Amino acid sequence: MINTLLIDGKAVAASLRAHIKNQVAGLDFKPGLAVVLVGEDPASQVYVGHKIKACEEAGFDSRFIRLPAQASQAELLAQVAALNNDAAVHGILVQMPLPQHLDAQAVIAAIHPNKDVDGFHVANAGALMTGAPRLVPCTPLGVMKLLEVAGVPLRGTHAVVVGASNIVGKPQALLLQAAGATVTLCNSKTRDLQAHLKMADIVVAAVGKAHFITGSMLKAGAVVMDVGINRGADGKLCGDVDTASCMGIASAITPVPGGVGPMTIALLLANTLKAATLSF
Ligand code: GUN
Repeated sequence: MINTLLIDGKAVAASLRAHIKNQVAGLDFKPGLAVVLVGEDPASQVYVGHKIKACEEAGFDSRFIRLPAQASQAELLAQVAALNNDAAVHGILVQMPLPQHLDAQAVIAAIHPNKDVDGFHVANAGALMTGAPRLVPCTPLGVMKLLEVAGVPLRGTHAVVVGASNIVGKPQALLLQAAGATVTLCNSKTRDLQAHLKMADIVVAAVGKAHFITGSMLKAGAVVMDVGINRGADGKLCGDVDTASCMGIASAITPVPGGVGPMTIALLLANTLKAATLSF
């Protein structure tokens, strides 16, 4: 029976945020982050609230721009253009998902790549793909940081990423591959997912389905990074992994809440500081 380590993302994120706060205190200006929220999605409102609070705690200048759910594409693009031209704004984040009538790809394309702290713009996605990363998506970067802090070796390992979104799965696969892992990129429809998972030294779960992965699907000793944030049948927050069933099988696992989630916010601050201090 393996003694499964619970990876404390909250603690790692807190120390990263303290480090960033120190660096910001040594600057002669405040890094500025603008967060744009369109509509009233309850989960998005919670995430955005956390992002703005973290900015303020770290000594950043944060700007919160709310647009109504009915805002037009032209209004949103005009807002992004104004932020692109504002020298006090170093980072722009448009919270996803956007209401159905808006074209998210066009909005992302309108953000200046040097202010794209989400790393979603094709210029940044392409830079990551070609091995010269600039601004990299916060959540997969947070997963890499947790693996590093937990001392998990990646070179030569087999990593299975479940979920192939632009926000997490695809950039995650590229980051793991760049670190020397052999990567299998699965999704919720993958045939015989268990056969893939049984070969995985590292599992990153980012499918958005509560308790989709259980302990019996894993190889003994696997390291499990749970990116999911779902509401379980009991109304409580839970991940894509059934954590309880992995205890004694996985060598390490991130809990939900308190695992990858807090890292996303810490890496958003790191990306904003990078955007504010680097000339690209
Ligand atoms: N929605 C869920 N995660 C994210 C994220 O990292 N950035 C943005 N902009 N929207 C999200």
